[in-house]
Amino acid sequence: MTPNTSSSQAGQDEGELGSAPTAIQWRPATSSDLEDMAKLEADLFPVDAWSIEVFQQEFDLVPETRSYWVGREVPRDPLDALDHDGSGPLVGYAGISFLGPESEIMTFAITRSHQGQGLGTQFLKKLVNLARVHECKQMFLEVRADNNAAFALYNRAGFIEGERRKRYYNDGVDAILMSKDLGYEDHHGLKSTDQNSAS
Ligand SMILES: CC(C)(COP(=O)(O)OP(=O)(O)OC[C@H]1O[C@@H](n2cnc3c(N)ncnc32)[C@H](O)[C@@H]1OP(=O)(O)O)[C@@H](O)C(=O)NCCC(=O)NCCS
Repeated sequence: MTPNTSSSQAGQDEGELGSAPTAIQWRPATSSDLEDMAKLEADLFPVDAWSIEVFQQEFDLVPETRSYWVGREVPRDPLDALDHDGSGPLVGYAGISFLGPESEIMTFAITRSHQGQGLGTQFLKKLVNLARVHECKQMFLEVRADNNAAFALYNRAGFIEGERRKRYYNDGVDAILMSKDLGYEDHHGLKSTDQNSAS
């Protein structure tokens, strides 16, 4: 995935006569995205949302050990695109860390109004590809034990359930550690198949 060139078409027909599907551009996050990211974070993670300051600390680690991305709608009317580097409303964001052969999804979110449209799946594929570009062999994440939507998404993308961390979150809910093998070449030089993977 090449920074600033990665964009993709996704979205739903809004049901209006002649309306085109909404285009989404996925691109590296910049400081102009911070406020919207923190707002979405507070909406989706009421128990332990990251503040703008925490996001800023994470941004400070880019590009050495972190990569942060956002998805924004591409406005149909360029005059609607005067903010946020010329792009439209925030659709989602994600951050991953890299440490040698290991990568970790630090945060991952799709706005409520865009959920259930396949965008989480699409974004996750990009993160997995990004980790592979960084030559990571494994990807990890933590998910709340009561987060059925996220658990199902990761499971379908080939993440396997691991250790359970008791009462990990501020409200006492357990965390489930999940991991995904990012592929390897066996002694025949064949790539692992990733049968159930969205990547
Ligand atoms: C988890 C999240 C990122 C999923 O994004 P999304 O764009 O809605 O996901 P998709 O539309 O690609 O759905 C992919 C799969 O996830 C699962 N899923 C999505 N929404 C679901 C829901 N409400 N209930 C159960 N499973 C759900 C399904 O398996 C779905 O596949 P299907 O549509 O074929 O059944 C999104 O719901 C979200 O941002 N939630 C709040 C923040 C969060 O929990 N982040 C993850 C922290 S670890």
